[in-house]
Amino acid sequence: DVPDLVDRFGRVARDLRVSITEKCSLRCTYCMPEEGLPAIPREQLLTVDEIVRLVGIATGRLGVREVRFTGGEPLVRRDLEAIIEGCSKVAPGIPLAVTTNAVGLEHRAHALARAGLSRVNISLDTIDREHFAELTRRDRLGSVLAGVRAAKNAGFSRVKINAVLMPETLHGAADLLEWCLDEQVELRFIEQMPLDADHEWARSRMVPAQGLLDVLGTRFTLTETEREDPSAPAERWLVDGGPATVGIIASVTRSFCSDCDRTRLTAEGTVRSCLFSDQETDLRAAMRGGATDDELMDLWRGAMWNKWAGHGIDAADFVPPQRSMGAIGG
Ligand code: GTP
Ligand code: 5AD
Ligand code: SF4
Repeated sequence: DVPDLVDRFGRVARDLRVSITEKCSLRCTYCMPEEGLPAIPREQLLTVDEIVRLVGIATGRLGVREVRFTGGEPLVRRDLEAIIEGCSKVAPGIPLAVTTNAVGLEHRAHALARAGLSRVNISLDTIDREHFAELTRRDRLGSVLAGVRAAKNAGFSRVKINAVLMPETLHGAADLLEWCLDEQVELRFIEQMPLDADHEWARSRMVPAQGLLDVLGTRFTLTETEREDPSAPAERWLVDGGPATVGIIASVTRSFCSDCDRTRLTAEGTVRSCLFSDQETDLRAAMRGGATDDELMDLWRGAMWNKWAGHGIDAADFVPPQRSMGAIGG
């Protein structure tokens, strides 16, 4: 019998997201400050062996069924292949995924697939080079597009594109969808959440799912269809009758917190029960202090038990968390 990660609201965490670095090769305005995040001292980052141990515990003994590596940008760590390889050994049969900006992926997609990576989600907000450079503060669209194509050829079971919705992205949304249809990769748009390092997010400036549907509706016929699974964050529409779909992750206007199945590890080895909660439980200190697997499990379960009902973005007293998206990993 598996002692699952449950919370007071009866939700069960089956999806683990592991941030492995705060560093990134881009500087998207809605995620990172211009100068990047303060560097995490090397000794505070989880090592490959520590990550593999925690992933083994989560999947082998705590009921986790999918593991996703995030950053910052996970490709910035040169040992990502070693992390994937180690995890695929301790978690056989468990899908291993990354969420990446795809800069440099071109050169690593095959090695990552060989190491056991099964799914890749790529963040790409626009296919207009100038607009991309403005949004990410780096002129790297060419590398990203090469990364998407390499991912398609590497034999992963799934490649998806994520695009954060911004007022600046909205007019290019139909072109991005057209491109994804041509490339035969699934596209999902994401409502921007108040997780930007500069705290400039404002509800009044945010593009809601409905605003996007109105824009896409002028070029495509969209028919609502079911979610990939009940706890998947994206609502989906068939495009022009299908089979291609477009998804929207409406975290803000149609929040899905009541079905949340996520647990998170930060790059420093703390458990975060929710994107928006600053309560963190330090597994790294416990591990380095000699904790047994059973002790680590107890700490992890305790952290999840106290998970909040939801993000509370709409509450009058909402305060964004101290960590910005770049330091949580989405
Ligand atoms: P799959 O559905 O397995 O492909 O992955 P995913 O959508 O869970 O992972 P991905 O990293 O691609 O996440 C896409 C975006 O969904 C994230 O950047 C977040 O904006 C949003 N998201 C993911 N998990 C959560 C969550 O727990 N809460 C909220 N509010 N948003 C989330
Ligand atoms: N709101 C919503 N999604 C965001 N991402 C980064 N910052 C935000 C934000 N403020 C997305 C990235 C990537 C994923 C990890 O999170 O584009 O797809
Ligand atoms: Fe889950 Fe928190 Fe995200 Fe809501 S905001 S879906 S509770 S992680």
